[in-house]
Amino acid sequence: MNAITLIELSKTYPGGKKAVDSVNINLSPGEVFGFLGPNGAGKTTTVKLLGGMLRPTGGSCSIFAIDSVKEPEKVHALCGVVTEHAQMYDSLTGIQNLMFYGSVYGLSSSESQKRGLELLNQLELSEAKDQKLFSYSTGMRQRLSLARSLIHQPKILFLDEPTSGLDPESAQNVHGMIRHLAKEKGITVFLCTHQLRYAQEICTRYGLMDKGRLLAEGTLDQLRTKVCSGAVMKIKATGVPSDLSCHQTPEGVLEIPIQSEEEVPKTARRIVESGGNIYHISTKLPSLEDIYFHLTNRKENCR
Ligand SMILES: Nc1ncnc2c1ncn2[C@@H]1O[C@H](COP(=O)(O)OP(=O)(O)OP(=O)(O)O)[C@@H](O)[C@H]1O
Ligand SMILES: [Mg+2]
Repeated sequence: MNAITLIELSKTYPGGKKAVDSVNINLSPGEVFGFLGPNGAGKTTTVKLLGGMLRPTGGSCSIFAIDSVKEPEKVHALCGVVTEHAQMYDSLTGIQNLMFYGSVYGLSSSESQKRGLELLNQLELSEAKDQKLFSYSTGMRQRLSLARSLIHQPKILFLDEPTSGLDPESAQNVHGMIRHLAKEKGITVFLCTHQLRYAQEICTRYGLMDKGRLLAEGTLDQLRTKVCSGAVMKIKATGVPSDLSCHQTPEGVLEIPIQSEEEVPKTARRIVESGGNIYHISTKLPSLEDIYFHLTNRKENCR
C-alpha cells in the first residue's frame, strides 16, 4: 500500500491563486521524498492538504489509503508535521510542551515524559529541557518542533524546511536523524527544502514543483535520464588541442560536456597524442542542483 497518494490534487485559494495544480504522486513506505521548488511553488500548500489542514479544490490525497479530507483525525494520528511556524507554548518548558502534545495524542503522562526525554536527548536539547520556550533560540525551537512531531511515533513525517535557521552542526544532526527514521524505523518522510545539497544526501526520490505544477518526479538517476542526461568531464592538462570545444574555469580546469563514458579515454588519448600532459581527470554527473536549475530555467545548461 502507498504511504502517500496524491491524485490530480489541486488547490485554488479563495482569492483565485492556483497554488497546486493537478499533482500526482505515489510514495512507498520508508521513502524520503524531497519536495523541491522555488518560493511560492506550492510545497507548503501541498503539505497542508495532505495533513488535512486545507481542503483541496480538486482531486484527492490520502495517507495509507485514508483520505485526508474525509478522515482527518486518523490522518493526524499517523502523521507528524514540522512547519516553520509550529504552534507551541512559550510559557511552558521544552519537556512540558512535549508532554502536552503527547497527551493530545493520547499518550499517558509517564509515556510522554519518557518519550519526550529521549527525543530531547536525540536532538541535543536535554540541557534546555526545563527552560521555558520563550528563552529558546530559533534553532532550539526548530529542534523542539521536530521532537514534538515525533512524540506519537508517526508513520509519516511532513517536514517543511526543518533545518531553516539551524547551524550546520544541528542541521547535520537533523538530517542524520531523518535518514535514521526512514532507514531503521521505516518512517516515510515528505521533506520540503531549499537545501538541495543536503536533499541529495538524504532523499530517495524527488518531486520538483514550480507554479503549482509538478515538473518532474523520480530518483536522482531517473531525473538525470528524464531531465538532464550527459555529464561533464573535468580535465587539468596542458597542450589541449584547440579544437576540443571546452570551457575553462578560473582555476584552469577544462570542462567538456560528454554524452557517454567512452568519450573520456578518447579525449585523454587525443590530448596525450598531441603532446599534452594530463594532471587530473574526472567526470561529474548532473547534481540535483543542476537538474533543479535546468527545470526551473534558471541556468541554461546542465553542468
Ligand atoms: N492562505 C493563502 N491565501 C492565498 N494565497 C496563498 C495562501 N497561502 C499561500 N498562498 C499562495 O499560494 C502559492 C503557493 O504558496 P506555498 O506557501 O504553498 O509555496 P511554497 O512552495 O511553500 O513556497 P516557499 O518556498 O516560499 O515556502 C503562493 O503564490 C502563495 O502566495
Ligand atoms: Mg513553504
